[in-house]
Amino acid sequence: MPEDPDIVAEVSEKGGVGKTSVTAGLIAVAAEHGLRVAGVDLDPRATLTDEMGVTEPKKSVNDIYFVDPEKRPRDPAEIARETLVRAGKHWPSNAWVLPAVRKFGNRETDATTGMEFRLKRALWGLRDLVDVIFIDAPPRPGGKIVGSALIASRKVLIPTTLKKDGYLGAREAMASIEHYTVPGGLNESLEIAGIVRNIVPTGKKLTQVHRHWERQLLERWGDLVLPTILNDYSVREICRTGSMPITSAPGREAKLLISGYRDLLHHTLPTLKEKR
Ligand SMILES: Nc1ncnc2c1ncn2[C@@H]1O[C@H](COP(=O)(O)OP(=O)(O)OP(=O)(O)O)[C@@H](O)[C@H]1O
Ligand SMILES: [Mg+2]
Repeated sequence: MPEDPDIVAEVSEKGGVGKTSVTAGLIAVAAEHGLRVAGVDLDPRATLTDEMGVTEPKKSVNDIYFVDPEKRPRDPAEIARETLVRAGKHWPSNAWVLPAVRKFGNRETDATTGMEFRLKRALWGLRDLVDVIFIDAPPRPGGKIVGSALIASRKVLIPTTLKKDGYLGAREAMASIEHYTVPGGLNESLEIAGIVRNIVPTGKKLTQVHRHWERQLLERWGDLVLPTILNDYSVREICRTGSMPITSAPGREAKLLISGYRDLLHHTLPTLKEKR
């Protein structure tokens, strides 16, 4: 029997805090570590899909969630196996994607019975193909798509900036997560892996305002704020622009970010070494 994959969702209820970048960074370092890794893009804008070099996929996460009311529902596990594609040419061959497409946005208001449980079953269908799965959630206040990620995952990681938006995104995400983890909730065993400080300015660019929001984060969540700090480095944009993993990006800043993503990977999944 294959071991179930580790499944980690990146969630925040504010946009632009780095959910997609952290997801892509973790996928890159997990692949470099020799793991078979999949990214799941749940954002209809398909940013992770694009960053992982996949354009015009034949199937997408929409096929996993959508059920034609005229037809008998298909097993999401089977659809997931048909949908999983290799990441693009700049990525290692052990990195895979369940891509998103724009029409996936329609699923947010889809009233199909049990739709939010389909992702969990879909990812179970990949258990002999991948070792680790990272889910990139869209910046929604709760809702069905984020809910499906929180039901499917074992762990949730909350990226934040040292700004009010980062703090609020984390606070609201924590409140939504609680709906799933309370006794009798839909995923009582979901663990909060932590809050990760991202796009943190270096040197003189770190202002009193950043320090203020960092204090707020630490006062409210203490040790849940992980020791890893991901700095604001322009090389990040090279990854998005060139649809390439950070592990292929040149220069010192890329090395520093890679080292940060590696720390984060090992904090989030401490038993990884045994998996390879
Ligand atoms: N460490 C970093 N250094 C510099 N820029 C970064 C870093 N991390 C992310 N960014 C940039 O910040 C912007 C927002 O990041 P990203 O798209 O990952 O956030 P997001 O939370 O997924 O946003 P959305 O909610 O819109 O999906 C992007 O342009 C990204 O390249
Ligand atoms: Mg994103």
